[in-house]
Amino acid sequence: MSEHAAPIRVDAARTLPLAARTLWVRVIATALITVPLAAQKTATTGVRPIASVKQLHDAMITPASDAVFQAAGETPANAKGWDAARNQALVLAESGNLLMLGSRARDNAGWMKMSRALVDAAAMAAAAAEKKDGKALAAAGDAITSTCESCHQPYRDRGRSMRGNAK
Ligand code: HEC
Repeated sequence: MSEHAAPIRVDAARTLPLAARTLWVRVIATALITVPLAAQKTATTGVRPIASVKQLHDAMITPASDAVFQAAGETPANAKGWDAARNQALVLAESGNLLMLGSRARDNAGWMKMSRALVDAAAMAAAAAEKKDGKALAAAGDAITSTCESCHQPYRDRGRSMRGNAK
């Protein structure tokens, strides 16, 4: 029974007057817009942030950025080195996403902007390492450093230098 219902409905839609067809288009368009929005809203359902901001630094951000800074200063000598640099840049980029999750986000404005800036700068570094482009990697390293500092300035230490204050 229901196997026949669908084709019949499609035929009906094809022969509908223009106004009714426009309505169909609207219904479908609304569905197309609404479904991705709903999917976005539920995208973080089930995600459970575990690490504090400090722990996220100790586990991911600090070691990954150290590795990227080192590769940016001293161009990797072989494919393995470039791969390692790219992987650490990817870890760093994703750690920027993690900074935005749950109670780690200190607000819905500056914090998100700085975290996203870290994602972008680290993604640049990953792309540079992928292309084995030392110049681009050095530029991305500089961009990363300024994202670290621009978040620490308001949210951590009100202007103390990033270096030498790790503990
Ligand atoms: C979105 C904001 C933000 C970004 C981006 C950010 N940090 Fe931090 N960072 C913080 C905050 C806040 C703390 C203090 C955490 C605490 O002690 O609770 C911190 C602490 C640190 C610490 C001290 C960790 C410890 O064990 O006490 C280091 C080192 C550090 N950041 C390095 C970096 C580096 C390197 C980058 C860039 C690659 C970076 N941070 C990017 C916000 C940020």
